[in-house]
Amino acid sequence: MSDLNQLINQARDEFLNCSKLADLDHIKAKFLGKTGPITEAMKALSTLPVEERPQKGAEINQIKNQIEDLLNARKKEIADHELNQKLENEKIDVTLPSRPQDKGSLHPVMKTIEDISQIFHSIGFDVTDGPEIEDDFHNFTALNIPESHPARAMHDTFYVNKEYVLRTHTSPVQVRHMEENKPPIQIISPGRVYRVDSDATHSPMFHQIEGLMVNEEVNFANLKGIVQSFLQCFFEDEKLTIRFRPSYFPFTEPSAEIDMSWNGGWLEIGGCGMIHPNVLKHVKIDPSQYQGFAFGLGVERLTMLKYGVNDLRHFFNHDLRFLEQFR
Ligand code: FA5
Repeated sequence: MSDLNQLINQARDEFLNCSKLADLDHIKAKFLGKTGPITEAMKALSTLPVEERPQKGAEINQIKNQIEDLLNARKKEIADHELNQKLENEKIDVTLPSRPQDKGSLHPVMKTIEDISQIFHSIGFDVTDGPEIEDDFHNFTALNIPESHPARAMHDTFYVNKEYVLRTHTSPVQVRHMEENKPPIQIISPGRVYRVDSDATHSPMFHQIEGLMVNEEVNFANLKGIVQSFLQCFFEDEKLTIRFRPSYFPFTEPSAEIDMSWNGGWLEIGGCGMIHPNVLKHVKIDPSQYQGFAFGLGVERLTMLKYGVNDLRHFFNHDLRFLEQFR
């Protein structure tokens, strides 16, 4: 028994000399493990006379409990010490300036769309949208571009299947809006459009803003006035002028390309015209009572002009060095 009592002192010494939690487990196994002296002593009980066993068993248990108490006390000491050291080393200086946060920002094309929407909203236009996967009827037929019309070839269309296309322009939103709403109508509709087209000024996915105004008296002069005022506002340049160059769109008559004055010359930024009576008929608006204008502007083009970007592909290359300039 005195051997076992000796164990308590031995365990205490070894626990005290140990300074790592992981090592404590090894020492614990040495004293209390399956092959340790306590377990051996328990096993040896069976060799004692029956009447001596309970008392001897209780004594061994007491020693075992004492060793376990010593172990737990030491464990706590080491854990406390480790925690204190960690706290000491990881002191936080709350007076230090914080690390700069890398915040994202609006993509320049999105910023342009927001700016344009705000300008048109301020003169009474609602903002609406339509599906990017569009049916043949809304993208072409209802816009007076029947099957076999040569204008379909001009659109370099991505076909989803026989019936659906990736919309080639935002003009189908005109049709969808007029199907659901009766004049007076004043909307713009920004969004993504798709064409098989790729170079420094053309991209397979780009953005347009459609404008549509329908009532009993709106005319070509109103169209020109509104587009010019919008551009003056967008480019913050009261001297900016525009010219309408005769053009052809099946869904407008007369039709024009919109050019704006730029560095002493002219730059095309979109198309426009008075809504063709056939389009109004498709949406059951009487062309003898109502008339309207529509325009479609290239958003990337406006963004390039506003910020002096010379290659449209920069917008879609995800190069942070480029994008960060627009913060
Ligand atoms: C149209 O898409 C007509 N729907 C515009 C319209 C609307 C006319 C309403 C009349 C009434 P157009 O194909 O010209 O028109 O395209 C309009 C503008 O989109 C162009 O002036 C140009 O700024 C831009 N654009 C055209 N193709 C691309 C392209 N691949 N990448 C970037 N911008 C483009």
